[in-house]
Amino acid sequence: MNRELALALVNSFRDAFEREPRLFRAPGRVNLIGEHTDYNEGFVLPAAIELSTYVAIAPRDDLRLRASSRRFDQALDCHLHDLPERVGDWRDYPVGVARALLDAGHALRGADMLIDSDLPMGAGLSASAALEVVVGLALSAVAGVVLDRTKLALLCQRAENEFVGAQCGVMDQFISCRGIEGAALLLDCRSLEAKAVAIGPAARLVVCDTMVRHRIVGGEYNSRRRECERAVELLKVAFPQIAALRDFEERQLDGHASLLPPLLLRRARHVVSENARTLRAAAALQAGDLALCGQLMNASHESLRVDYEVSCQELDVMVEAARKAPGVYGARMMGGGFGGCTINLVEGDCANAFMASVEAAYRDATGVTPNVFCCAPASGAGPIAL
Ligand code: GLA
Repeated sequence: MNRELALALVNSFRDAFEREPRLFRAPGRVNLIGEHTDYNEGFVLPAAIELSTYVAIAPRDDLRLRASSRRFDQALDCHLHDLPERVGDWRDYPVGVARALLDAGHALRGADMLIDSDLPMGAGLSASAALEVVVGLALSAVAGVVLDRTKLALLCQRAENEFVGAQCGVMDQFISCRGIEGAALLLDCRSLEAKAVAIGPAARLVVCDTMVRHRIVGGEYNSRRRECERAVELLKVAFPQIAALRDFEERQLDGHASLLPPLLLRRARHVVSENARTLRAAAALQAGDLALCGQLMNASHESLRVDYEVSCQELDVMVEAARKAPGVYGARMMGGGFGGCTINLVEGDCANAFMASVEAAYRDATGVTPNVFCCAPASGAGPIAL
């Protein structure tokens, strides 16, 4: 927990509202492997991290909902029975979550909320999922609504799909809700069964932020999702029983390549091969085979770059820099793509040398100083006692 940030948030809340708040935290995430597989009902291997979004909250006796953020100017002030439409800034997330909770039949109370975060926005570390989850947790807690964490994740995903307008899968909200300290989770995005895979001290997870920012709302992300759905429709001609690309193996795809136009074949090939890589990487990590896990991460990057076409020049430069740095097992772009961060699996003892080397190489190549840091797998969302 970021104690300093949490204490400052509580103090500001007391000053602003002259009441004692309750405090909640929801983390961001990294994803070792399994990219653009979640909305294809496939497998992912994310871990929650310490960087988080925090909310201080106190219930009100009426149905007014007020929220402000120490990071942004605009404030939210509305009535729970008359929630505003989408406005295109951070307030869409709390409003979307309140709507999703109400639509699911949960009776909410009005509340005052103050929000802060140490998660960089738009970096691909799931700052938006953390915001949704922390607001969902806080609003349900002060209203006495008991929600299991998987249901909360699904409600937050619905808020993002239906209200914010990004057709994301369930990975980010799920790991923010259900992360486990010291482990990544192998999540089956169809059954929502999750298995913890411990990450020991022999391996460090290093995040390298290119500082290039993207917005996945609309645009390329949603179009990739539609391409996958279209590929499934076309493949159904030969495989009427399939529901998602998850149901395919690579050799089946190779055998029926003529069913798909070249672009859709490449998209499908990424998803199908990435699912297989994710299962193998989780097994390798479990067995302590960091070299194999790293090779699979490298292959994931190539597939995302060439077949799925969601990388960008800066991500490729960062990955190239990492592959030449000391102690690296594997390096790849992470999250939706088109900017944001890479994730690197690095030998424990070499982390500092690795970070210095990548930082210098990226700066030399681009003129931009990247944000490079280690993260340890942290626990999922919850209340905080100060
Ligand atoms: C974003 C989405 C996730 C997932 C990743 C790509 O982070 O929110 O649901 O699809 O992109 O793997």
